[in-house]
Amino acid sequence: MSPVYHLKLDKKVTRGAMFAFLPGDPDRVLKIAQAFDPDSREIARNREFRTLLGDLKGEPVLVTSTGIGGPSTAIAAEELARLGVRVFLRVGTSGAIQKDVRAGETVITAAAVRLDGASMDYAPIEYPAVADYEILNSLVASARELKIPFHVGITASTDTFYAGQDRQFSRYMIQRLHGSMEAWQKLGVLNYEMEASTLLTFCCAHGLKGGCITGVAVNRVEEHMVREELLDLAEERAIWIATKSMEKLVVSFKDL
Ligand code: URA
Repeated sequence: MSPVYHLKLDKKVTRGAMFAFLPGDPDRVLKIAQAFDPDSREIARNREFRTLLGDLKGEPVLVTSTGIGGPSTAIAAEELARLGVRVFLRVGTSGAIQKDVRAGETVITAAAVRLDGASMDYAPIEYPAVADYEILNSLVASARELKIPFHVGITASTDTFYAGQDRQFSRYMIQRLHGSMEAWQKLGVLNYEMEASTLLTFCCAHGLKGGCITGVAVNRVEEHMVREELLDLAEERAIWIATKSMEKLVVSFKDL
């Protein structure tokens, strides 16, 4: 089999791994891989896609960065699925829009509002973007064990960081997006990020297992932009929960 086009991986190199962590940021790949296997190693790098391979409880596990947003996330997920990955766990950062979801805490996504465009290529908009319930349960159990503050609920996934998340940055923002954050707050949405809806729609539509945990990098009720010191804490906590959760998943899904 020739390597998949963007990720530059083939099944021999991935050792047929069925499990993958999906951070957005290529720099976070190393932090995640080190958290579960200090001997993990880089096996490919191309554009925003960087992949490390490590071992967790005797199973090969990949960590592949998706880059920002739906289109590049879809490329990573499709190519990994072609290589045999069945369990996809996004580990990212997000902006909370509810007052009680504090910066530095974590959000476990139960389902995502599909404000992205890429997921439309997998299923019509009426189709839900839902997390796999066993992944969801393992994330919750892991957060409890680690005593890290977490919230479970609905995430809104946008295609743009500024306009789509109701941050007016440029000279003009279309009418439909003014006040959109308040509307999602009233509908009980917990946070904004940019990849979950594409990943979860893709996984649901293809019979694969998808989940998402994000560290809260900013509380949008209080401020507009991310603060670096809180970003680091949020990211670290999401990684701890995700790696503990993957420890459980490799055992329960070994025979998928
Ligand atoms: N990621 C987002 O998409 N939005 C935020 O506010 C923070 C991280």
